[in-house]
Amino acid sequence: MQNPVIVALDVPSPERALALAAELAPVVGAFKIGGELFTSAGPDIVRRLRDTGAAVFLDLKFHDIPNTVAQSVTAAVRLDIQMLTIHTSGGRAMMAAAETAATQAAAAAGRPAPLVLGVTVLTSMDEPALREIGVPATPAAQVERLGALAVQAGLRGLVCSPLEITALRRLLPAHVQLVTPGIRTGAEKADDQKRTLSPREALAAGANWLVIGRPIYAAPQPRAAAEQILASLA
Ligand code: C5P
Repeated sequence: MQNPVIVALDVPSPERALALAAELAPVVGAFKIGGELFTSAGPDIVRRLRDTGAAVFLDLKFHDIPNTVAQSVTAAVRLDIQMLTIHTSGGRAMMAAAETAATQAAAAAGRPAPLVLGVTVLTSMDEPALREIGVPATPAAQVERLGALAVQAGLRGLVCSPLEITALRRLLPAHVQLVTPGIRTGAEKADDQKRTLSPREALAAGANWLVIGRPIYAAPQPRAAAEQILASLA
């Protein structure tokens, strides 16, 4: 089995990110770079992480017209990342353009195409918040609608919350990769994640990858925390 643990490097400085990566690389599958780290450290942090041999998930959630998203994806692929995110609410044409750009840019660089992951409904949105932006659906129904559209548009993966895994697994073809944040082991302090599963539960429900931030990087001993998570999966 591939190591399914992706550590979210939600730290502001490149030094801290690289120190964490050096400590954790032998025991995790990949590292996620999000908006905070990328905006403060720039593309150089991606190159420096890749130089260590680690796989990189660039989580910038692109959402724009198809041409602009395609060019952003092409630029990301040139950084040699292995996964990236786009918003599915950008629509079918935008998602198809992103997937095509990923495939073509990777082929031009002589590398395998990265996994373009669709983000459906942000977990911060509830039904009233959706209604406010003109979407008369429950979050669960909207997640399924956007997930199905993403697969029709050619995406090969989605980001979803732990509580969405089972419904999406039932709905979508088996090859679609599900990447799931909101993972908690029970050992950490309560924080802003409300609906969580343990690493083992999320994989059993059908997730392929687990995005784990604070339970690893904010633990007193990050490497020991990651090793405990891996052991819980065996
Ligand atoms: O620290 P924690 O394990 O909660 O980190 C989870 C990571 O997954 C963070 O980088 C967060 O931005 C991301 N994420 C999330 N919930 C979503 C989508 C992404 O927690 N619905």
